[in-house]
Amino acid sequence: MIIKRVEAKKILDSRNEETIKVTVETSKGKFETSAPSGKSIGKNEARPFSKNGIDFSINMAVEIGKRIIYEKINIEKFEDLEKVEKLVRDMDKTENYEIFGGNALFALESSLLKAMAAEHKKELWQFLSKGKKSTVLPLGNCIGGGKHIDSDKKPDFQEFLLLPDTKKCSDAQKINNFVYKKAKKLTKSKDKSWDFRQTDEHAWSPNLSNIEVLDILSKIREKVKNKFKVDLRIGLDIASSSFYEEGKYNYITPQNGKNVLDKDEQVNFILDLIEKYNLYYVEDPIDEEDFESFAKLLNGVKKKNLNCLICGDDLICTKVERLKKAIQKNSVNAIIVKPNQNGSLLETKKVVDLALKNNIIPVISHRSGETLDNTISHLAIAWQIPIIKTGITGKERLAKIKEIIRIEKKK
Ligand code: PGA
Ligand code: ZN
Repeated sequence: MIIKRVEAKKILDSRNEETIKVTVETSKGKFETSAPSGKSIGKNEARPFSKNGIDFSINMAVEIGKRIIYEKINIEKFEDLEKVEKLVRDMDKTENYEIFGGNALFALESSLLKAMAAEHKKELWQFLSKGKKSTVLPLGNCIGGGKHIDSDKKPDFQEFLLLPDTKKCSDAQKINNFVYKKAKKLTKSKDKSWDFRQTDEHAWSPNLSNIEVLDILSKIREKVKNKFKVDLRIGLDIASSSFYEEGKYNYITPQNGKNVLDKDEQVNFILDLIEKYNLYYVEDPIDEEDFESFAKLLNGVKKKNLNCLICGDDLICTKVERLKKAIQKNSVNAIIVKPNQNGSLLETKKVVDLALKNNIIPVISHRSGETLDNTISHLAIAWQIPIIKTGITGKERLAKIKEIIRIEKKK
């Protein structure tokens, strides 16, 4: 592939914060990728931009592009990203891309991949999968709180999620839209003072407790069962590291009569919620460094024969070494995959493959600050990732869901 130019510039994301867009130009056209960014960021994630600032990351991405062109580095296939990463490693030897920035690497590599796909006259998912596509269902964020809204009057849990048990993304998305509207109505009748404010991912954010929200969603689950004959599986992203400190989980509203839970109380509280509300998915219920309590919770789920995914997001940070530790300790049966938590797409693919090999379900995910980019939709379809977590509404989230549905419909 002959690369003519690599450009990088600043754009604004859905939170109006600066992020990077990288464009790779070849004889086949221009291929671009913009990177998202998180708010509830794991301690072990790649640094999104250089410690010297976003402009530094932008200049470095362009610099790497120039080296690829002048040194005539041959880039034809996915594995050739190794050559790009070697150049980056010459400039940045830190573990978390503190000099280059994980977002800059993700955007550069994704644009190179799109250009490679075009050389083969293929879409990105076809190029990466050799044509075999997998079904991907949307995990939609309906109601939320935590760090995704700037207020004290909110649920402690960051996200209340929906995963309709359908065969197709298009059917699930219809149901998610139905529930989203119903949830608005029921939420307003429970919290009369609610002004319809939303979190960064467009989830409704009333002044209700975790339990009040779960009660609302349970009611809607019944309605969905009657109307669509589908089980509306319910999930949570507890993002518990955001309210954990020195062995204690600090809640705004009392849980089981207490505002502060110790580690074992937290495990038991979550286990009770899974049982009582028949939850199918629970993300980051435990602090990001506590692999052992994660394992206790997963063990409890298995012992009680509950059908629930215990998912690590901040726990794993899309890192191979952390996933290996979680496998060894039996901490999770699902993981979040956020390419920009890692930076490297080669490493991200290794994480996905290692998870699948160990019967751990990978869930690819957007970030709370998003762009219109749909790279993760292609990665999900190509890499056999069965679930995409990307909100229900808003143009940045819909860009990803619509892409899955478009490809799903293709013969
Ligand atoms: P973030 O949160 O994108 O703000 O990091 C999303 C999540 O915790 O899953
Ligand atoms: Zn999360």
